[in-house]
Amino acid sequence: MADTYLVTGGMGCLGAWTLYHLLRTGKRAVCFDLSDDRHRLDLLMSQDEQTAITFVRGDLTDTQQVRTVFEHYAITHVIHLAALQVPFCRANPPVGAQVNVTGTINVFEAARCTGVTHVAFASSVAVYGPPEMYAPGLLPADAPVAPRTLYGVYKVANELTAQVYWHDYAISSTALRPYTVYGVGRDQGVTSEPTKAMAAAARGEDFHINFGGAMQFHFASDVAQQFILAAEQPSEGALAFNLGGPIVSVAEVARLIMAARPDVQITCADSVLPFPEGCDDRSLRDHATTIFSTPLADGIASTIAAFA
Ligand SMILES: NC(=O)c1ccc[n+]([C@@H]2O[C@H](COP(=O)([O-])OP(=O)(O)OC[C@H]3O[C@@H](n4cnc5c(N)ncnc54)[C@H](O)[C@@H]3O)[C@@H](O)[C@H]2O)c1
Repeated sequence: MADTYLVTGGMGCLGAWTLYHLLRTGKRAVCFDLSDDRHRLDLLMSQDEQTAITFVRGDLTDTQQVRTVFEHYAITHVIHLAALQVPFCRANPPVGAQVNVTGTINVFEAARCTGVTHVAFASSVAVYGPPEMYAPGLLPADAPVAPRTLYGVYKVANELTAQVYWHDYAISSTALRPYTVYGVGRDQGVTSEPTKAMAAAARGEDFHINFGGAMQFHFASDVAQQFILAAEQPSEGALAFNLGGPIVSVAEVARLIMAARPDVQITCADSVLPFPEGCDDRSLRDHATTIFSTPLADGIASTIAAFA
């Protein structure tokens, strides 16, 4: 049987990029999503190219539906990205818990019931507490978690769920914890503002990013490829890795956008997000055979060009 990759949340930003890279490398992909809105996929692939993807519209919170997808399509690799982001979890905590916590348990259960032995899934920098909790400098992957959002609490639950599935059923997993993902298709979530600024710049419009401070930025294309590798490279245990990269101020991102489009004004607020400035990715560098890291200036320039 050929390898078949399940991408939950395939209509989302990282999901669309993941499907794009799977197709580009000739892999068979099943997209499982509650939404059938292909606007992010349309930014990356022609309608014709998308015919190679199997689309299943379904609800992650439905245990049986998730298991049926695993069985019916003989899933061999899992990239679990579907989730509700911070504002949606804040607006409706019970639904946030159903999608992000129960949904992730459904993925692990389906893996267990169908003999899939490894799962890659999205955690987040939001598992950590605010910067003042930690010593200055890059935060190691094993720094204590202390989420200040329910979204972060649900991501901690996902990582602990993965540990139980390893101990009880020997299902290994790799969780990646992105910080601020940017790139075409990043149009929702707290940290989507820098990408919205790039889209505005491409239209020749000014934009104000409603937070400041400094953080790590990851190009969506890189993160998607890192998830594919995480799904392909089995791990001994339930591993959770920070994504790394330089710590860059939001003001510097604004400057890079204006360097690409000198005719627009991009500004940012002073307020700081409740996450540490940067996370150490040394353990991912030790584990992964490749680290995908497009330089920020190149990622921003190519994002603005793609929007234009
Ligand atoms: N984008 C970031 O900066 C960032 C940072 C850290 C972690 N993450 C995590 O990475 C993953 C992907 O992020 P993204 O930016 O692509 O998110 P996104 O919001 O763009 O996409 C999420 C997708 O999940 C789908 N979904 C929601 N509820 C569902 C359900 N009940 N059943 C099936 N599908 C459902 C949505 O329709 C959507 O297509 C998420 O788990 C997110 O928490 C993202």
